[in-house]
Amino acid sequence: QNKEMINRGLFILFEGVDRVGKSTQVQNLVKFLNDKQLSTKAMRFPDRTTPIGTIINAYLQNSTNMDDRALHLLFSSNRWEAKDSIYQALNSGVNLVVDRYSYSGVAYTAAKGIDFDWCYACEKGLPEPDVIIYLSMNSEDATKRGDFGGERYEKLEFQKKIKDIYESKLMTPKWKVVDANRDIETISKEISDIVNKELDIIKNKQISTIS
Ligand code: TMP
Ligand code: MG
Repeated sequence: QNKEMINRGLFILFEGVDRVGKSTQVQNLVKFLNDKQLSTKAMRFPDRTTPIGTIINAYLQNSTNMDDRALHLLFSSNRWEAKDSIYQALNSGVNLVVDRYSYSGVAYTAAKGIDFDWCYACEKGLPEPDVIIYLSMNSEDATKRGDFGGERYEKLEFQKKIKDIYESKLMTPKWKVVDANRDIETISKEISDIVNKELDIIKNKQISTIS
């Protein structure tokens, strides 16, 4: 088959603080797109399966300590090491639905008081998502959800700082804000409607990079 005839895949990203339901919505969207015969794969960051991801995982489970900037660079490296496979999927027509990316990296480290521009700098040049879906919820409600508190960053005061950085410094008019404090099916329906619209608009645009 002629290569020019394949539409590239869409890079769809989910962002938001812990426990807003990103992973559930990623699964539902992957299923929705595959059911429409649109080849789609899920991806998540951190990718805990690589050697770098193993170090990150140990940190998140509180079993190691690390300098904040060193950790930040590992999270960023964990995206850079995935760059080729991201391009490969998109260029072969596979949609990617991604659970967290550069914006999590910046929000979580900047929430520790580290300079925002320093945090952002190492993300520049990575492939840029076509659609960013931000699941929004009041921090008190998110922290009351099941399993909250198991990992390093799951503390109410810190979650509020992260939410503030997402909403005051990272969000652009391009981000789609979805109210995550509703039932799963209602949220999934809103998201699939958003993605359906974007599919037609974006398929002929070049993949851009974070700048
Ligand atoms: P997860 O719960 O989505 O697996 O993510 C693990 C934690 O890592 C979560 O609290 C968010 C945080 N995180 C960062 O601090 N920097 C990053 O670059 C990413 C992708 C996640
Ligand atoms: Mg988590």
